[in-house]
Amino acid sequence: MIDGFLRVWMLSLMTANIQVLMVCLGNICRSPTAHGVFNNRIKNAGLADKIHVDCSGTGNYHIGKKPDRRSIETAAQRGYDLSSFRARQVQASDFERFDYILAMDNANLRDLQARCPQDYLSKLQLFLDYAGADCEAVPDPYFSGAEGFDVVLDLIEDASDGLLAYIRDRHFPDPVGG
Ligand code: 4NP
Repeated sequence: MIDGFLRVWMLSLMTANIQVLMVCLGNICRSPTAHGVFNNRIKNAGLADKIHVDCSGTGNYHIGKKPDRRSIETAAQRGYDLSSFRARQVQASDFERFDYILAMDNANLRDLQARCPQDYLSKLQLFLDYAGADCEAVPDPYFSGAEGFDVVLDLIEDASDGLLAYIRDRHFPDPVGG
């Protein structure tokens, strides 16, 4: 009996659709970049039918807008296409819908915590918790020069690799002997 339950539970873990939400302030620089990079990692890993990624902003300044031109250009130089994204603001339903809600910096995290129902608080984390680099926040590049956008991409690529490895390990481990 216990065996049966265990098998169903293991199976549900391994076939789960994992939903990841990347969050910054404006949803035009960092979180669309994280969306594009992590989506690339998911596709390359052959996990596009198992892991889904989206992005949004805590602020409402840029709703409906394309990502910042500098983000689009810097990402394109490394082979990521951000041109089809449009900014949206975090909605109440996001806290239930997404399994991993990943903030780019501590201000984003505090804003999310203030809006998040108690039951879902454990879904909130800093994205760079998954990076190898010893850095807490993806710095806001909006008022920086071009080099700020390159730093953003370096950190996001690092954390995307770590996040994919973590989700793979936790939700889609290779079958024993497989
Ligand atoms: P993001 O960058 O949060 O990475 O999208 C920003 C974009 C716009 C503004 C601030 C940060 N803004 O103040 O308009």
